Amino acid sequence: MGQTHFDFTGSTTVITGGASGIGLTCAELIARCGGDVVVSASRRPDKTAKALDRIREASQGRSNKLAAFPCEVGSETSVASFFEQITQAGIRIDFLIHSAGVSPNTDFFDQTQAEWDTVLNTNTTGAFLVTKYAALAMKPNPLRGDFRGKILLVTSTNGINSQDPVSAHYDSSKAAANMLVRTAAEHLSSMQICVNALAPGWINTELNATLPPDVREKESAKIWMRRWAEPEEMARCAAHLLTMPYLMGQVIMADGGYR
Ligand SMILES: NC(=O)c1ccc[n+]([C@@H]2O[C@H](COP(=O)([O-])OP(=O)(O)OC[C@H]3O[C@@H](n4cnc5c(N)ncnc54)[C@H](OP(=O)(O)O)[C@@H]3O)[C@@H](O)[C@H]2O)c1
Repeated sequence: MGQTHFDFTGSTTVITGGASGIGLTCAELIARCGGDVVVSASRRPDKTAKALDRIREASQGRSNKLAAFPCEVGSETSVASFFEQITQAGIRIDFLIHSAGVSPNTDFFDQTQAEWDTVLNTNTTGAFLVTKYAALAMKPNPLRGDFRGKILLVTSTNGINSQDPVSAHYDSSKAAANMLVRTAAEHLSSMQICVNALAPGWINTELNATLPPDVREKESAKIWMRRWAEPEEMARCAAHLLTMPYLMGQVIMADGGYR
C-alpha cells in the first residue's frame, strides 16, 4: 500500500478477526501509522504467529504494543474473557474494529439449522457481544476529546442488497448487524462511544473461497468499478471512518458501486 496520512500514535485499536483478511490488513495499516494493536487470535496458532509477524513488520518499531488473545466471538464467556485479559494487561482501548465473520456459501436447500445457527451466532451475536464488552472496557479519556472510544463493525452490503440464495443466512446475519449499529450508537452515545459500520462489497480474501464460480461471475458483472477491492482498500476506509469527526450510527457501503 502507498503512503498513508493517518496518525494512530498513542492509541490502541482492538481488532477481532485481526489474524486474516480485512482485519489483518487494518492491523497492519494502524501499526504502520504508529498505533498499538491487539488482535483476536486465530483458532490456528500458526496463523496468529504469522499475523503478528506481519503487523510487527508493518509497524517498523512505530507501535509500542502488539498482542493477541483468544476470542470466540459467539461465546459470551470468551468475549468477556478477551476484554478482561486486555484490561488486565493495562491496555486502554481507543478503537475497536470487529471484523470476525464467516460466510459458508451453501445452496439454499442445503443450509441446515446448524449452519444457520453458526452463521448467525458468529456474525450477529458476535457483533452484539463484542460491542457490549468493548463498550464496557472503554474508559473515559480526556485526550480523546468528546469520545471515550469508537467501535467500527465490519458488516456487509449483503445485509442491504444481496439477493443470492447461497448467502441467505449470511445476508440475514449482516442485515441484523447493520440494524444493531443504530441501536448501539444511540444507546452508547450517552457513554461518549461512537458506533458505525463499514459495509464492504466484494473483497479479495479467503472468505470468498467457497463462492461458486457462477455466483462470482454474476456478482462481478454488477460492480460499477468493474473489479473487486483489495483488503488494503477496506483498511483505508476503516481508518477514515475511525478518524472522521461527528460520524455516528452510520453504515457506510464501500462496494465500488453495485446494482
Ligand atoms: N471478503 C469480502 O468480500 C467481505 C465482504 C463484505 C463483508 N466482509 C466481512 O468482513 C469481515 C472480515 O472478512 P474477511 O474477508 O477478512 O474474511 P477472513 O479472511 O476469512 O477473516 C475472517 C476472520 O474471522 C475470524 N472468525 C471467524 N469466526 C470466528 C469466531 N467464531 N470467533 C472468532 N473469530 C472468528 C477468522 O478467524 P480464524 O482464523 O480463527 O478462522 C478470521 O480471522 C467479515 O465479517 C466479513 O463478513 C467481507
